[in-house]
Order: sequence, then structure tokens, then C-alpha cells
Amino acid sequence: MDKFIINGGKRLEGEITISGSKNAALPLVIASILSDEISVIKNVPNLADIRSMILILEVLGTDARLEGSTLNIDPIKCDKYEAPYDLVRKMRASVYALGALLGRCGKARVSFPGGCVIGPRPIDLHLMGLEKLGAKIEIEHGYIIASADKLVGADMLLRGPNGPSVGATVNVMMAAVKAEGVTTIREASCEPQIIELAGFLKDMGAQIEGEGTPLMKIQGVKELHGANHSVIPDRIEAATYMIAAVSTRGNVLIKKAKASLMESVIDKLREIGANIAEGSDGIRISAENPLKPVDVRTSPYPGFPTDVQSQIMALMTTVEGISVITETVHPERFMHVSELNRMGADIKIEGQSAVVKGVDYLSGAPVMASELRGGAGLVIAGLGADNQTVISRIYHVDRGYEHMEQKLAGAGADIVRVSE
Ligand code: EPZ
Repeated sequence: MDKFIINGGKRLEGEITISGSKNAALPLVIASILSDEISVIKNVPNLADIRSMILILEVLGTDARLEGSTLNIDPIKCDKYEAPYDLVRKMRASVYALGALLGRCGKARVSFPGGCVIGPRPIDLHLMGLEKLGAKIEIEHGYIIASADKLVGADMLLRGPNGPSVGATVNVMMAAVKAEGVTTIREASCEPQIIELAGFLKDMGAQIEGEGTPLMKIQGVKELHGANHSVIPDRIEAATYMIAAVSTRGNVLIKKAKASLMESVIDKLREIGANIAEGSDGIRISAENPLKPVDVRTSPYPGFPTDVQSQIMALMTTVEGISVITETVHPERFMHVSELNRMGADIKIEGQSAVVKGVDYLSGAPVMASELRGGAGLVIAGLGADNQTVISRIYHVDRGYEHMEQKLAGAGADIVRVSE
């Protein structure tokens, strides 16, 4: 297992280039089996989760090749319909195989998904939405078995207790594009990856309206064809490096980052005191002391992303004053708090909120990543801390950040990867 060794206290300066979005790319990769023609997806990040999705394609009989950041997918021989436990347990997004296989061949056998340990992550909305489209769902030996002689468009509300569901919206979209008649999704997720998936499906010949709003309408079609698409830049990766720049009071050009995808994060960083300007090649961000404490409340897009919660918390640990960070999307996503406190932070959990009292400095320590974004938060803490921080279990971080240590080292950080 690899770990990061960070000697903190180096100001980030220079450029960091953002990769394609993991969470936008994953649905496109599996949606490509909705046609029998070749699709080409560009700007695909070479990440563990993407490689897991490619393996699922291969197990289903699809030919998929990732060369550089271009993924060529030929689904003509896709004749299997089972996504096995060994692959699905590694990544929650593999549950997207359900909707895609139902749309392709009317049957699917998919293991219950795994993924980051960030509290309960039910899939009741996914199953309810697919059932509304006419699929029969059975659970057997840890597998979800879905079948439908015919999918028929339906009217459905996809809202759960914590808001709309990205994953359920993705699954329903992939089945509905091939269903007979019109599907109406109320309280659909509005996240950029939904707009991206709709764009890809439309390129394949699907008829979709209202993507990016809570009311989406899909008119099913009989056939889809292959498509060429380039994935949007990863707004969570961009936000992570922007926060790292502020945390080290640095000055960095985040190349390829798009401000329109991350306004809530930019507003919050400006409130903290960062200087941010968007240019044609990306977003320049810099910060100097003193910075101001802020309150942050995560919520579905366009709100502040849960996937940036741990990173902003790491930043606030050394900003004088009290910051309150409230998590409403994954209310138990606070595993990073005990690790930040081991580095000298003063954070107390009160229900769904973390109360962060700014301390003068963090001191480097051995810490452990327990989920993807929590691990990124620890990297940010280590970059700003005194002395050495050793972060173990960085396989979590590798699921969502391409060459993180190289990108940070290129901007002046003292960070190396070593194998344990
Ligand atoms: C996506 O997960 C992202 N993953 C997550 O990013 C992200 O944290 C999350 O959306 C919220 O933005 C991918 O895109 C692959 P949800 P997803 O269904 O689709 C509840 C990362 O770090 N819910 O929108 O699984 C659920 O418990 C990952 O890159 C139900 O109640 O999230 C949560 O509270 C981690 N029933 C809320 O909805 C359901 O059937 C939102 O979850 C489904 C979800």
C-alpha cells in the first residue's frame, strides 16, 4: 500500500492542470452500451474507479481501450448482463450498470455496490425509479436482479430524505431513454454530471429536455447510436487544489478549471479572503493572511458540494475564529475529523455540524485516509502543517485524483509517494 509523505509549510506557486471529471465520466462509460456502435470519450481521467468501470464493460463482453485520456468503446459483443461482486464492491457507481443493462437488453444482475465509507448509502430511489419504468426487481444472494419485457415511460419523484439523488437520476435516465413513451423525473438531480450524461445520450440520439433542472422529460427511442464526447473538467479536483493554494497562502493558476461549475466554492473562498480571477486558461487563485472564518452548509448542486467539505474544513482549522461546517448530503461524512484533531486541530462534532476553532498551526503527524475526499482534506492539512505528515491508505485518494503528488509537487509542494 502506498502512502504520501508531506513536508509541510511550502507555499504553492505555479500551475496545476485539472483532469476530466471522474463523476461525469463514469456514467458516460457505462451508457455507451446503450448502442451497438463505437463511442469515443475524450478527457477521461486514468483513475482506479474509471478502470473498474472499464473492467465491468469488459466482463459484459464490451471491447474498451483507454489510450492516454481517450476511451474507445465497442459494445457490439456486449452479450452478458451480470456485474459481479468482485468489481462492484469497489465502487458505488458500478450500480449504474443496472439502468444501462435494462436499457440495452431488459435484464441485469448487479451486485450491491461498495464505494467510500461515508455513512449509509441506500439505493432505494434507484430501484423505485426502475420499477416505475416496469422493471421487476428481486434481491438474491447480495445481487439485484432486474428484468423487464418492456420498459414503459413513467412519472416519478426521485427525492430522498437528503435531497435529489445523482445516482438514481443517472440510472433512471439510462433506462428511460430506451423505454416506450415519456418519462418525467421530478426533483431530478441538477449536478453537472447529469447535464453531461444528458449531452452524451442526446449525442447518441436520445430525446431529453430539462437536464440541469429538477424537472426532466425523456421521450424514449428505439435505437441509439455511438457518440464522440469530451468530459468536462473535474470541479471537485479544481476545488481541492484551489483550497490547497489558499491553505498555503500561495498563488496558483488552476488550468482548465471552469468557474461556472463551481460558483458556490468560489463564493465561499472569496468570503474567506482569497483572490480569484477566471481567465481563458483557467482560474487564478491567491491568498495572504489574514483569512476570515466562514460557515459552510453542503447541499446538492448548485449548493456547496459535500465532496469539498473535508477540504474546506482542513483549511479552516488554521483560520482564526470559529467556522461551522454543516453536512446535509452525507450527514455522517466526518471520518477526517479525528485525523485532523490528531494534527492539532480543534474540531467538535455537534450533530450534522463540525465546529472548527482556528488554531495557530497544525503539526505534522501520521494519519490515515478513510475515504476519497477525506483523504484529500488530510493532504491539504499536511501541506500547511509544520514538519512531516505521513498519510497512509492513499488508495482512497487515488480513486479520484490523477497523479495528485505530481500535480502538487509541480507547484512547489514537498510531497512524495512511497510504497509501504
Ligand atoms: C454521487 O454519489 C457522487 N458519486 C458522490 O461523490 C457525491 O458525494 C454524491 O453524488 C452527492 O453529490 C458519483 O458521482 C460517482 P446521491 P451518489 O445518490 O450518486 C441519499 C466522491 O467523493 N440516497 O446523490 O451515490 C444518499 O444517502 C463521491 O466522488 C437515498 O436516500 O449520491 C445521500 O444522502 C462520494 N436513496 C443523498 O441521497 C437512494 O436511493 C445523495 O446521494 C440514493 C441516495
